[in-house]
Amino acid sequence: MKKQFEYEKDRPKKDRIRDELINCIKKYNVKKILILESPKFEIVKRLPNIKFLVYEKNYKTYMAMQKTKTKFKNIYLTRGNVANFKSSKLKADVIYLDFCGTFSGEKDNILALKDKIKVSKFFIVTFSPHEPRQKFEGISNFYLSIAGRLQRLLDMRLDIVFGEDYYDTCPMVTIGFEPKINNLEV
Ligand SMILES: C[S@@+](CC[C@H](N)C(=O)[O-])C[C@H]1O[C@@H](n2cnc3c(N)ncnc32)[C@H](O)[C@@H]1O
Repeated sequence: MKKQFEYEKDRPKKDRIRDELINCIKKYNVKKILILESPKFEIVKRLPNIKFLVYEKNYKTYMAMQKTKTKFKNIYLTRGNVANFKSSKLKADVIYLDFCGTFSGEKDNILALKDKIKVSKFFIVTFSPHEPRQKFEGISNFYLSIAGRLQRLLDMRLDIVFGEDYYDTCPMVTIGFEPKINNLEV
């Protein structure tokens, strides 16, 4: 049986998205990144001068990460829900919530991080568009609907600077935003 942390094999589009996100991240002055990673630490390994605050809620994945993280000096790994970062005194310049689930399933976690997102320079999220009670009206509508729902949830303006969709075990969408703290006006 395939191990959980091998789920990314043969996923060239996800690899390309990662490359593009790394190029985007390099445009900002970044010291710390809050991230959901995999035990391969594909992003961490390519940005060795940035500190990564990694949260992992799955016990098996966390234990796998404990082993592989010894190769890297720039990882601060915490077991638990990423929403717990809300109580940290640290500020992340980039927040990359590479969720596996839907907006509805993760919205409480995102709301918990509102104050951290507000002061970040680049905020990236991945969702599956397969909401149980919502009619799926295509990927492009999903981008807009996510941008709108996130702006309303967080009560802040989020300018889209990145957007890509890909196929995992189901369709997924990754969107990168620049949070604008002032207000929702354009
Ligand atoms: C899609 S994977 C990350 C992949 C990685 N960003 C990459 O590019 O290879 C998401 C990971 O985050 C974990 N995760 C999902 N939601 C979480 C949450 N709310 N808090 C902590 N960990 C979470 C999952 O268990 C999984 O290991």
